[in-house]
Amino acid sequence: MDLMTLRFIENAENIIFCGTPGVGKTNLAVSIGIEAAKHRYCVYFITFQDLISQLKKAASENRLETRIKWFYRYKLLIIDELGYQKMDVDSANLFFNLIAKRYKKLSTVITTNRPFSKWSDIFQEPVLTNALLDRLLHHCSVININGPSYRLKDQMQYMIEEN
Ligand SMILES: Nc1ncnc2c1ncn2[C@@H]1O[C@H](COP(=O)(O)OP(=O)(O)OP(=O)(O)O)[C@@H](O)[C@H]1O
Ligand SMILES: [Mg+2]
Repeated sequence: MDLMTLRFIENAENIIFCGTPGVGKTNLAVSIGIEAAKHRYCVYFITFQDLISQLKKAASENRLETRIKWFYRYKLLIIDELGYQKMDVDSANLFFNLIAKRYKKLSTVITTNRPFSKWSDIFQEPVLTNALLDRLLHHCSVININGPSYRLKDQMQYMIEEN
């Protein structure tokens, strides 16, 4: 309820939804995004994989700074599904660059299925991972959600009704 007041956007704070598959992380991130858009904040939703592809493409075309500045127009950037794939060191650096630039200025919401202790496995570089987490978590609400997947619950309900 506190997050829905959108105070975190005014304070340039972050939110991380962390938990097992199907517990509603994306659903919550999108709900906050919709609320922010209703209050006329500029909001951008992207999967982590697509974000990295965009940054990589921009870097290869020598326009990384321009692309990162393009994200400045969004007071709220929602990055969905961090940690579902491992990444190379160059990609990890690109992501760090984006987060470092948003730090204390603009809000970022992240959904992930990986606990922070495993993030160095995703980014491959422990030093970079520490620096990244330091910035992300400095002003951040971390919401841990664990429990059964809504997807499986729906499926179980369907099977019960079928029988
Ligand atoms: N509070 C809720 N009540 C009922 N259904 C929900 C709720 N939250 C999410 N769902 C449904 O559960 C399914 C999974 O939700 P969602 O995609 O948000 O999970 P997730 O945690 O992002 O999963 P993943 O880690 O696999 O990306 C969706 O079909 C969604 O509509
Ligand atoms: Mg999700």
